[in-house]
Order: sequence, then C-alpha cells, then structure tokens
Amino acid sequence: MLKDKKILLGVCGSIAAYKAAFLTRLLVKTGANVKIIMTPDAVNFITPLTLSTLSKNPVLISYFDPETGEWNNHVDLALWADVFLIAPASANTIAKMANGLCDNLLSAIYLSAKCPVFIAPAMDLDMWKHGSTRQNIQKLATYGNSVINPGDGELASGLTGEGRMAEPEDIINLLLSHFNQKLPLQGKKCIVTAGPTYEAIDPVRFIGNHSSGKMGFAIADELARLGANVRLITGPTSLKSNNNINRIDVVSCDDMLKEVDRYFHESDVTVMSAAVADYKPLKKSSQKIKKNDALFNLELVKTTDILAHIGQKKSAEQILVGFALETDHEVENAVTKLKRKNLDFIVLNSLQDEGAGFKGDCNKITIIDQYLNTQAFPLKPKAEVAKDICQKIIDLII
Ligand code: CTP
Repeated sequence: MLKDKKILLGVCGSIAAYKAAFLTRLLVKTGANVKIIMTPDAVNFITPLTLSTLSKNPVLISYFDPETGEWNNHVDLALWADVFLIAPASANTIAKMANGLCDNLLSAIYLSAKCPVFIAPAMDLDMWKHGSTRQNIQKLATYGNSVINPGDGELASGLTGEGRMAEPEDIINLLLSHFNQKLPLQGKKCIVTAGPTYEAIDPVRFIGNHSSGKMGFAIADELARLGANVRLITGPTSLKSNNNINRIDVVSCDDMLKEVDRYFHESDVTVMSAAVADYKPLKKSSQKIKKNDALFNLELVKTTDILAHIGQKKSAEQILVGFALETDHEVENAVTKLKRKNLDFIVLNSLQDEGAGFKGDCNKITIIDQYLNTQAFPLKPKAEVAKDICQKIIDLII
C-alpha cells in the first residue's frame, strides 16, 4: 500500500488529463496523501474542482493566488513530496523540464524537487516519435527521472500508435514497487558518533577540539538513505540533523560512552567518527577558577577509549568502524589502532592532506580493513566520502 506516502501529482494540458481523476482516486484509495499541481493549460481538459474533491486537497496552478495574495511556495511543495509524479506529462512540459525552464508552478517544482520523479508522457504518436521529444526524454533519464513509457493504441487524434498515457493501475503498481524496493541497509540498526566532546574544567571552561561533526552527520544521512535505522550520538555542534535520524546530544566523553553502551548490544553497524577528548581534568571545579598565579597547572586523566571499549564486546556479526586522524606514520598508526580496537575497518585521514580534515566540507580518506586491504580515495565532499564508507559497510554485510 501507499499508506501515508506523500505524492505530488503534476497534471499537464493533454486529453489524457481525464485519467488524472482515476489516478488520484486510486492513489487516495491506497492510502496516499495527494497534492495536485496543474499547468494553466491542464484546466482546459479537467477542472481543478474535480481533482481537489478527489484528492481532498486544494489544487494549485500558479505561483501566486491573486485573490488571497498568497504565494504557493514551490520549494516547500517539492520538499514535502516523497515522489513527484507528472501524469500526464505533455511534450511541452517535458521539453521545459529537460531544459530547465520554469515558467509555471509545475516546472518550478520540478527544478526544486529532491525526491524521485516519475513522468508518464501522453501525446500524439508523431510528437512522441519526434527527435526533439526523444532527446528530451533521454535527457530526463540522465537526470535520474523514471519515464513511464506510454502505451500503444487508439489516440485522441484518431491515429493509432504509441503515445497513450500509461494506465493509472500500471502507474500505481510502479509506485508500489518503488516504495517496496529493498534498500541495502533496510532494517539494520546503526550507531554513529560525531562531533567533539567537551571536558569541563569548571562551570565555564572546557577542553575541546575543532571537530565540526560534518563527517559523522554525512555518514548518518547516508546510512539512513540506504534504509538503516540510525542513532546519531553527537557532541556539541551547530549542525542540524534530518528528521529520519534519532539524535542524542551529549557533551563529554563519559556522556557519549553511556549512550553508546546503552545501544551497542543491538547495533548491527557502529561508526565512531567522533573526535573524543583523550584526556579530561582530574577534577571539575564547582566554581569558576580565578586567575591568581602566573602559572596554572591542570591535572588531566585519560578518558575511556569508547571505541576500544566496545571493540572488546563486539560479536562477529557486528560491524565496527573507527577513524584515525594522523600527522605522521599514518598507515602504520592506523593499522595499530585497527588491531588494538578490534575493528572491521578504519578510516584514515591525514592532517598532511590539504583541504582534508576537521572543519572543512571535504575529506581525503584511506580505508584499511582487517585483512589490510587498503583503498585510497581522492579529496571529495564529505557527502561523497560518506558514500565510500557506506559502500565498504555494504560490501562487508553482503
Ligand atoms: N575514540 C573513542 N574514544 C576516545 C578516543 C577515541 O571512541 N576516548 C575513537 C574515535 O572516535 C576514533 C578512534 O577512536 O574512531 C581514533 O581516535 P584517535 O584519537 O585518532 O586515536 P587514539 O586511539 O585516541 O590515539 P592517539 O590520540 O594517540 O592518536
């Protein structure tokens, strides 16, 4: 079923627009939440009233409602949708989509959409066969859009051939198989640690580091995108996490240890990317320390190495990934950590690499696994680096 799936249906000016009524009815019947956008031409083929009654939502046609003065925010609508389905898609709208034109609400939403896009073309057979349409359709496929090929049969022009919009039942079946697709990490429980930890000296001061948390947040996002159930345990950071991630905010190494320990037994995959402080003040002063003497000594004690601690508890089925940030003897040090902490693989980043590291948006990593297979990757945005790390996880699971 499509229960609670958010479907944005775009309806273009084509005689097949009448099928949008059946399609809407089927979508609503299967439990989907449907919002409809029409092109100005589509209203000549089917009334907005029909579609708003069937979808139980107002139908939107233009950017701006001259009566209420309200702006129909195409970005919000695009982000709302789980799927943007354009059915029927006319040759004109397909051409606009292929070339980035956005002179109406529907085409502007298309440019803003991050969700999967399905296009069900409907037109006369000669329009469908025209080289220009063929090229536009190919272009849309290269953008990652799914084209639902039109069927063969009698057309409104009286001609017979390819061009009829796919039947609503077939479109529904396609959406069903899209949503039921098994993602590679579907059902896997994952923990990701991210960010720095702050170790309190007194009520106002702490020992911390420059970690932004960006790498860990990117890994959490990618794991969730691959179907995993993600718990992100993060130290202090200004980053926002996506709604599909269970976020737990912590401050110190001890707080992080407590949360990792709480969930580790049920975790299939644990990625420890946090830059945990290695030392903490032996005593936390309950009052703000005054600056009396010229010299001030702070006694530090080692924190618990959370990664080594769970490495000891890890079962053969659990995957454990650690990070190593090194300045010298990089591979040698990383391999020592990999073995000492009982990891499946370690992600090495060297501070020698320009553009890589803590605060930036890019990283340059080398993955070393327990068989000492070594893969070095070029400098990439952290979202891409997260994909490489998650691919290694998938390789180990399969
Ligand atoms: N780590 C951890 N708990 C700590 C310290 C580190 O879980 N108290 C984890 C980090 O999240 C990272 C890995 O251990 O995945 C490596 O951390 P790093 O500080 O580079 O290595 P250390 O083992 O602390 O060694 P050193 O600081 O001497 O390089």
